[in-house]
Amino acid sequence: METKLSVRNLRISFRTSNGKVQAVRDISFDLAKGETLAIVGESGSGKSVTSKAILGILAGNSIVESGEIIYDGKDLLKISEEDFHAIRGDKIAMIFQDPMSSLNPIVRIGRQLTEAMLLKGKARQRESRSNFNTYLKTLEKTMIESVAKGDSARAAKISENCKNFDKFEFKHIELEKAYKTAYESASETVDDIDKLAFELEKKSAGKDAVDRLNDIIVQTRATVNKYVVGEEHKDEVHSLAGSLMSTYNSEKKANDYPGTLKILYRIRELCKEGVEKEAPNFFRMGYYLTFSGKPLPDMPVGELNDYMKDYLDKEFMLGFISDAETALRYSANRSGEMMKKAIDELNAARPVFKRESLDKKECYAKYKELSATVKSCIDPLNVTKDSLTFTFSPSMKSQLDTYFHGIGANKKAIRKHDADQRKHDRIVAKGKKPEWEVAEANTVDLELIKENIERIITRLVDHYDELLAALPNRNFREETVGSINYLMENASGVIEKVTRRVAKHRAIKLMDEVGIAEPHKRYRQYPFEFSGGMRQRIVIAIALAANPDILICDEPTTALDVTIQAQILELINNLKEERKLSVIFITHDLGVVANMADRVAVMYAGKIVEYGTSEDIFYHSAHPYTWALLSSMPDLDTDEKLEAIPGTPPNMIYPPKGDAFAPRNRYAMAIDFERQPPMFQISDTHFAATWLLHPDAPKVDPPKAVVDRIRRMNERRATGNE
Ligand SMILES: Nc1ncnc2c1ncn2[C@@H]1O[C@H](COP(=O)(O)OP(=O)(O)OP(=O)(O)O)[C@@H](O)[C@H]1O
Ligand SMILES: [Mg+2]
Repeated sequence: METKLSVRNLRISFRTSNGKVQAVRDISFDLAKGETLAIVGESGSGKSVTSKAILGILAGNSIVESGEIIYDGKDLLKISEEDFHAIRGDKIAMIFQDPMSSLNPIVRIGRQLTEAMLLKGKARQRESRSNFNTYLKTLEKTMIESVAKGDSARAAKISENCKNFDKFEFKHIELEKAYKTAYESASETVDDIDKLAFELEKKSAGKDAVDRLNDIIVQTRATVNKYVVGEEHKDEVHSLAGSLMSTYNSEKKANDYPGTLKILYRIRELCKEGVEKEAPNFFRMGYYLTFSGKPLPDMPVGELNDYMKDYLDKEFMLGFISDAETALRYSANRSGEMMKKAIDELNAARPVFKRESLDKKECYAKYKELSATVKSCIDPLNVTKDSLTFTFSPSMKSQLDTYFHGIGANKKAIRKHDADQRKHDRIVAKGKKPEWEVAEANTVDLELIKENIERIITRLVDHYDELLAALPNRNFREETVGSINYLMENASGVIEKVTRRVAKHRAIKLMDEVGIAEPHKRYRQYPFEFSGGMRQRIVIAIALAANPDILICDEPTTALDVTIQAQILELINNLKEERKLSVIFITHDLGVVANMADRVAVMYAGKIVEYGTSEDIFYHSAHPYTWALLSSMPDLDTDEKLEAIPGTPPNMIYPPKGDAFAPRNRYAMAIDFERQPPMFQISDTHFAATWLLHPDAPKVDPPKAVVDRIRRMNERRATGNE
């Protein structure tokens, strides 16, 4: 399973006037591509803080004490605001609890949708341009090094090839872009006419008929292209489009539309023919038109494609691919050599980070040296980025910074603790009972940091061992084709301009996709004209506008009533399937995610206390807190009174020494108040942090309410009407 996002040992606190709030305390989880991970826990358990950290929108008083959030070869905790800007909303989008707070009340819905697309479109164009240029330049340089090897005539030829690639690739995109606009317009027109004509015939078209006709007119005019609605139909298309509205207006009074329908059907016929035509290969055509100096031969598209392929291969492509393949292999081998060196250096450096107490100067010097070596292992021609290499340096630095800052901070914390203790003792000595408790000294665990460093090094060494072992079996021909595709994609990103018209069309399609009826009319309305559920749908549409691959939903249905809630959940579920989204779904109610989560992380007091598949959590839960959540889950089948979880969560300025849930846990043992339980592994997929799983602990069964509930869920599952 491909991991999309990986959160490792995340710790976040907030500075407040009362002290440091330890909101998230060392949590780790992975999000796989296409899965829904539910994060469940009571108010204040750290769910929103976690999601805000992923989006880089933590409050100003936050301190990221430690951890990594790895996405696409980057550690999101350590990238610049500028880089984050490209990820936030674009790759990772978020839906909040209250839809009104994410909508601008005085801007029409349509505008809010298109604005997001237009902005992101521009950013993407810039990024594509820079990717394209950088990659082609690196490829050229490496080809010269590995193929020409000092032969200056050969080098000049390579440079010329690269320049030509750049040139004809732009021609290709220009041609394809023109084709696509016409093709999409034609195919949209067919769809739109199908719907509208049906309604006109039934005399049931709504008030938005004029808007829809207007869209059809604009679209129809855009369908003319040699390979869609051919030039020979240009005049007819324009005259059809030109007379459509006046015909409709003259027939509106009688509510009978023979003339309008006739025009619509003719347009539909032309568009349908256009959509069904075979398309030429524009990549090859781009080359042919740029360099052959001849017009395209007049032949059927299929033959033309073959003809152009021969031309392109002979004149350019075969040679280019072969040079590029040499360059890719050369670059991969060079990076492999660096990895061998890095493995030795990393192993040799281990003692520096294992000393009884670390030496600041020595550590930072070593860190710099290692970072440089690891950086040189990056293979710039490999289009799949190696996350571990990219994140090594920031991860190490953050561990070292925390360590050396911790040495000072620990002294202070211990002084404060001792002073508090003395004060406490004095009060007790006077025979009084203090109203406060002495909080445990808030110290940084220096040994833990040393372990983290060791782990980071080992992880990278193991990783490089694997990469080196795989190197001889890599298929560089295939990778070269991948590289050329990468160049093509980025070139098309440069020309892919999102115009207002395209944005509007996409917006209306999106509104349709999220289940908003009459999107044409709704497009021009303000947020207050929408119900709560509809607003949440709009917010979802905005989140999807940039086509993200991760969607974070923070209690998206709490403000909605039960039926609407179910609809929104279903919508999110469907969108996830269709778009292969990875979803993080945050809620305080286990019941909400029962039918949609693939995996569940249960959070309590800033920690993940149980983690597993839906099956693990709902049918085999092991942590008393999860049991409590399960019993407090409303059940439609029974009238049983809900068992609210007794007590309240701890104050996170003074997190308890032992298991934070102990004071509310009727199964708590003495050790629960003393020591934090480790994460016990129950199965391949299932983990829980409770002393009950210790081999020496007494065996306890879940409370009756939970056992009954599981029995009911099983019965429902057996009868198949879950
Ligand atoms: N900016 C801040 N300053 C101080 N404390 C904060 C800040 N933001 C969050 N916290 C604290 O961090 C802890 C976790 O908060 P978080 O918002 O993640 O809870 P949650 O699990 O999302 O709860 P809810 O279900 O109420 O949304 C809480 O104790 C909260 O008071
Ligand atoms: Mg929250």
